[in-house]
Amino acid sequence: MGFYPVFLKLDAEPCTVVGGGAVAARKVDGLLKAGACVTVIAPQLNPTLLALEAQGRIRWAVGDYSGQRLGTPSLVIAATDDEAVNRTVHDDCRARNIPVNVADAPHLCTFILPAVVDRSPVQIAISSAGTSPILARRIKAHLEAWLPARYGALGRFAERWRAQVRERVTDPADRRRWWEDTLDSPIAERVLDGRETEADALMDAALSGEQPHRGEVYLVGAGPGDPDLLTFRALRLMQQADVVLYDRLVTPEILELVRKEAERIYVGKARSHHVVPQAQINAQLVALAREGKRVLRLKGGDPFIFGRGGEEIDQLAAQGIPFQVVPGITAAAGCASYAGIPLTHRDHAHSCVFLTGHPKDAALGVDWNTLTQPMQTLAIYMGLQGLESICASLIAHGLPPHHPAAVIQQGSTPAQRVVVSDLAHLAEAVRAAALKAPTLVIVGEVVRLREKLRWYGLENQSENAFTAPGTRA
Ligand SMILES: C[S@@+](CC[C@H](N)C(=O)[O-])C[C@H]1O[C@@H](n2cnc3c(N)ncnc32)[C@H](O)[C@@H]1O
Repeated sequence: MGFYPVFLKLDAEPCTVVGGGAVAARKVDGLLKAGACVTVIAPQLNPTLLALEAQGRIRWAVGDYSGQRLGTPSLVIAATDDEAVNRTVHDDCRARNIPVNVADAPHLCTFILPAVVDRSPVQIAISSAGTSPILARRIKAHLEAWLPARYGALGRFAERWRAQVRERVTDPADRRRWWEDTLDSPIAERVLDGRETEADALMDAALSGEQPHRGEVYLVGAGPGDPDLLTFRALRLMQQADVVLYDRLVTPEILELVRKEAERIYVGKARSHHVVPQAQINAQLVALAREGKRVLRLKGGDPFIFGRGGEEIDQLAAQGIPFQVVPGITAAAGCASYAGIPLTHRDHAHSCVFLTGHPKDAALGVDWNTLTQPMQTLAIYMGLQGLESICASLIAHGLPPHHPAAVIQQGSTPAQRVVVSDLAHLAEAVRAAALKAPTLVIVGEVVRLREKLRWYGLENQSENAFTAPGTRA
């Protein structure tokens, strides 16, 4: 081990930074966050440092560096672009036994600055001993993605309960196990979810000897298909579930990311094309959570956009089952981005309507006049089956037959296909291309922008950009 890892307490300690540029400013920022009293020695300061000086947050020793200016601070960082100055700073510090760091010169450092994942009070410092700061930053990026943003809150929560736990659980080995169990329980999940009052109540109960009930439901939006579009929270909950209920829109690549040991239950359309009735899914969620399981209800897109998420949690709420809802990227947003069609645009669309084109829903009554307003985009879910009649109705209610429209199949996945046409020819073009569900229909002037903005799946252009003969898109 080249360096001995420590965390320094710098609260109110005098620290000096030599240099007034961007690198120096970054070092100053870190020192100020640790509570240090910072002096900057430099002939000039960049705007960030000047602002800090104006706010009285740093002291500026104006002028070139000299040994007399240095004094005896607790530590020194040299960040000038003059190698000779940096070396002099290093030599002066060594002569006075002051810890010194010279930016980008590991051989002139008596300490190095790690890449830090900050979830104060929890901090993770990563060092490559100066050999590859880029590598350290990569590891940091992975940890940033993996570690919940509210991990610090969990640290403060544990700190707040520490004395009471020590009083109740006196044996150190038992106490360690107790904390391990707690950090792996719904109590921690409540804290991470920002529900500390509930976490406190559960903690109280647990300390009185009540077994915490582990059963809960995570209603998670899996996005339109590309696993990279999952949220950090979705991924974290997917990796701690005991059982997952998923439907047809959840791609195999996404399912792959669910904890290996989790039981998998498919609740989409079976081969017989019978859908598992919603009431049965609702009851199953309640029953599994009652068994004490962490139940992941994984849904395509966003659970609250044509996802019946509201109905599922309605049942959970009524039965007193704890749950949380994680939004996902809805098909309209995902398909539009991957097809290069902005849903709104200052020159073409000031509003965007999400609607279902499912014939059953359409039969309930659609106000076609609101759907044919100018400067508006329509994002139509489940519109494939009724496409011909939807297009005809839009034309009948005032949209011109040449109004641009597109259908996107399996948006955001490698199997994405896009058919661009106009209202008069769209259904015919989609038939000719033999598109299959799931598809999203986008109607509006914004569709024309795809010509310029398309970026995804270009290597497969002929298939992806089918345009009906004789159409204008
Ligand atoms: C029951 S809705 C669920 C919508 C989902 N909750 C969401 O927010 O995207 C299913 C419909 O969403 C659309 N859809 C979902 N994922 C899609 C994708 N990757 N490509 C195209 N359409 C998609 C299709 O219209 C599909 O029939």
